[in-house]
Amino acid sequence: MQVNRRQLLGAGIGASALLALPACSSSGDSGSGGGEKKVEVFSWWSGPGEGEGLAALIEDFKKNNAGVEFVNAAVAGGSGTQARQVLTSRLLANQPPDSYQLHAGQEAASDIKAGKLEAIDYLYDANGWRDKFPKGLTEKLTIDGKIYAVPVNIHRSNLLFFNPKKLAEWGLSAPGKTWSELLAQGNTLKGKNVKLLSVGTTWTQMHLLENVLLGELGTDKYNGLWTGQTDWNGADVVAALDTFKQLLALSVVGTDDWQPTIDKVVAGTAAFNVMGDWAAGYLQGAKALKYKTDYDVVASPGSAGVYNFLADSFTLPKGAPHKAYAEAWLKECASKEGQDLFNPKKGSVPARLDSDKSKYTDYLGWALGEWQNSSTVVVGSLVHGVVANNAWKAEIEKAYGVFFQDKDSKKFAGAVAAAYAANK
Ligand code: GAL
Repeated sequence: MQVNRRQLLGAGIGASALLALPACSSSGDSGSGGGEKKVEVFSWWSGPGEGEGLAALIEDFKKNNAGVEFVNAAVAGGSGTQARQVLTSRLLANQPPDSYQLHAGQEAASDIKAGKLEAIDYLYDANGWRDKFPKGLTEKLTIDGKIYAVPVNIHRSNLLFFNPKKLAEWGLSAPGKTWSELLAQGNTLKGKNVKLLSVGTTWTQMHLLENVLLGELGTDKYNGLWTGQTDWNGADVVAALDTFKQLLALSVVGTDDWQPTIDKVVAGTAAFNVMGDWAAGYLQGAKALKYKTDYDVVASPGSAGVYNFLADSFTLPKGAPHKAYAEAWLKECASKEGQDLFNPKKGSVPARLDSDKSKYTDYLGWALGEWQNSSTVVVGSLVHGVVANNAWKAEIEKAYGVFFQDKDSKKFAGAVAAAYAANK
């Protein structure tokens, strides 16, 4: 992304920078759709906790667009691993949906540079959106001055979920504040036949890994991992990878997606789960659990005051068959009303700057406060598309598969460094 690679990934972006208002505009024309009154929207929000958020947005879309058929083309699977594969084949076959889900940052940059998307500056201008989102966020959807997507939310990746009743039962007053403290708790729990962390399928393991790196290295060195400024082969990175291995050894590591994985924490077979705040949406909504009483959540060890962020966004693919209705969908996604219906269910805070704060309570009340606090440091997630382009990320995933088997930290670090050099 010739865009602002430094700005995107550089030294911990202050939340205040992301919240700053932009002040420019350009013009464009508005497209028109084909004959059918229909829109097909592609995402990976079908499971419990995600499905409800999307459903709320769809319901409002239908209210605002009477008579338009809504085709929900969600492909199941947390973090979009399966969905992105299906999407790639559809785009290759020239069968794009009318709009698809995409993460702001390097994932967006990869699709923009590959020519998959239409610029939608004209929608930003026609609808007055330019000052409605944090400037730093729309920059992560921009290349060469053109914006390519609408952000619906801000998620936080670096969270440690737990069941406070169980913790008390096991004699732990609070989760460890560093990864070493958590490891020590893991050894105590082992004596009680309880696993330290519940970890699921590969992407959830890598989600844990990025947050171990963040907590162990701190924000500057973590940011440097994605810009070439931190040496992956350095002793501190290798030590953090070793910590990750020790954590896995004390944990239950399954092949489930994130919902059954966090269910183990609710049930008390494992003490903690590192997951993004979509899990708060799920626990509070689908599981009807009470914040602080039935479930609780803190920043993952070593990352208090840091927001490891990601943002879901929707796009206008080139060749969208029902362009006018795709534009109507993007309008829904960008709207204050749509965002305030979607985010409280999804477990995310709104991308819009003018949301109705009263709608964000319990976990989300805390999240919004942290997000809007100017001293919060914002960094980007690897697993959820912010910091590595698609080619490098695919290489990291491949190397991680080997690491998971052979547990060779140095070899993994070397492979990631080499892949960066080849794909930066
Ligand atoms: C992320 C996505 C979130 C949530 C999560 C789990 O990649 O941005 O909205 O859906 O995956 O599926």
